[in-house]
Amino acid sequence: MIEKLWSGRFTASTDAFVEAFTASVSFDHRLYEYDIMGSIAHARMLAYVGVLTEAECTQIVEGLTEIQQEIARGAFNWSVALEDVHMNIESRLTLKIGAVGKKLHTGRSRNDQVATDIRLYLRAEIDLISSELTRLITTLAEVVEREAETVMPGFTHLQSAQPITFGHHLLAWCEMLLRDRARLQDCRKRVDCMPLGAAALAGTSYPIARHYTAQLLGFDTLAENSLDAVCDRDFAIEFAAAAAVLMMHLSRFSEELVLWSSAQFNFIELSDAFCTGSSIMPQKKNPDVPELVRGKTGRVYGHLTSLLTLMKSQPLAYNKDNQEDKEPLFDTVDTLKGCLRVFADMIPTMQVRREQMRAAAQRGFTTATDLADYLVRKGVAFRDAHEIVGKAVRYCIEADCDLDALSLDVFQSFSALIEDDVYDVLTLEGSVNARNHIGGTAPSQVRAALQRLRTARL
Ligand code: ARG
Repeated sequence: MIEKLWSGRFTASTDAFVEAFTASVSFDHRLYEYDIMGSIAHARMLAYVGVLTEAECTQIVEGLTEIQQEIARGAFNWSVALEDVHMNIESRLTLKIGAVGKKLHTGRSRNDQVATDIRLYLRAEIDLISSELTRLITTLAEVVEREAETVMPGFTHLQSAQPITFGHHLLAWCEMLLRDRARLQDCRKRVDCMPLGAAALAGTSYPIARHYTAQLLGFDTLAENSLDAVCDRDFAIEFAAAAAVLMMHLSRFSEELVLWSSAQFNFIELSDAFCTGSSIMPQKKNPDVPELVRGKTGRVYGHLTSLLTLMKSQPLAYNKDNQEDKEPLFDTVDTLKGCLRVFADMIPTMQVRREQMRAAAQRGFTTATDLADYLVRKGVAFRDAHEIVGKAVRYCIEADCDLDALSLDVFQSFSALIEDDVYDVLTLEGSVNARNHIGGTAPSQVRAALQRLRTARL
C-alpha cells in the first residue's frame, strides 16, 4: 500500500471510494511542468537563504528534472492514492533521491503550490491564445484588403438596410477580436502574481526570499497577503469572463458564416475541408465548423458560471472546493484554442461570391437613405425627405421595380427638387463612397482603417 504523505495523525486508512472521490490527479496531472518549475525555483530559493545546502538543492533539482523527463515520455506512473500532481511528484522524488526529497516541502504548502501552478499555466496559455487571436485577425485583414470594394447589403433586424462593403463588415470582426485580445492581456497582469511564500495560509517561519523565487519564475509581482494568495481565484474568473465574451463574438461570427453559406444567402462558400455531408441527403454540405464553434460557446459560459459559483460564499482561506477550479479552466483554455485555430485556418479558404452579394444589395431599396440625404442637400428637412422617399418606395413596391428604375417625371411627382443627378446617388458605389469618414464604409476608409490596424494595432 502507498503511504500517504500526510498519514501521521491518522490511524485508519482512507475509504477506497473517498480516495478516488477526493483525488484530482486524473486532471491536474497536466500541471506537471509548472509544478516542477515551481518546485525547482522553491528549492533554489531555500538554498539561497541557507535552509537547504547547495548539495541538497542540486540533488532535488536533478531529481525533479529527471521526473519531468519521465512524465514527458509517458514513463511516469500516476497514482490515485497519492491524490494529486503535487504529491505524486514529491513522492517519486523521495523514491529517487532518498531522504533529501522530503526537505523540498519546507516552507510551503500545497495551497500556495497549486495557486502558483495554475498561474504559471494560465500565463503561458494566455500567451498562446493571444497569438492565435493575432493570427485570426491577420488572416481577416487579408480578406479585408481583397474585399475592400465588394458591395453587400448591410443589415439591421436581418433586413437589408444600406449597402456596405464586405471589407468594412469584416473590420467589425477585427475590432471585436482586438478588444478580446486586450481583455486577455489585461487579465494576464493579474495572473502574473506569485502566491508562493503564503504556505498554508499564514506565511512561513523560514527566512524565505520571495523576490528571489518570483524572479526565477518570471513573476511580475508578489501576492501581498498570504490569505488572499492561497484563496484568490479572481484571475481564473476574469479569464473565463474574457473567454465567454470572446466565444460570444465567435458564435455571432459563426452564425453569419452559417447564414451566408446557405442557399438563401449564397454569399460565401466554405471550403470542403471545413464542412461535412449528410448521410441521407446527397446534396448537403453542412457548415459544421461554425456550427460547432457556436455550440461550444455554451460550455464556456457554463465554466464562467461554475467558477463564480465555486467561489461564492467560501470563507477564507483555502478550501478543498478550490480543487474544482481546474476542469472548467482547462476546458475553457482547450475550447478557446480549438475554436481560434479552426477559425484562423478556415477564413483564408472561404470563397466570396461578389455577384451574389451585389445582387442582394441591389434588392430591398438599400439606397433609400441616400435619396433622403439627397433631398436634404437640396434644402428639404430630413423628416420631410424621409416621408417623400417613403412614398416613392411604396410606389416602387406596387410597381414592382427598384428606385433607380423610376423615370425623372415620376421622381418629380414626389418632389420637384429631384433632378437628373439623382441617379448617381442611387447607385451602390455612390452610396458606399458617400460614407467617407473615419469608421465609414467607403472603400478608401476601409483601406485607411486596415492600414492603421496593420501598422499600429496588431
Ligand atoms: N489538489 C489540491 C487542489 O487542487 C491541492 C491543494 C490541496 N490542499 C489541501 N490542503 N488539501 O486544490
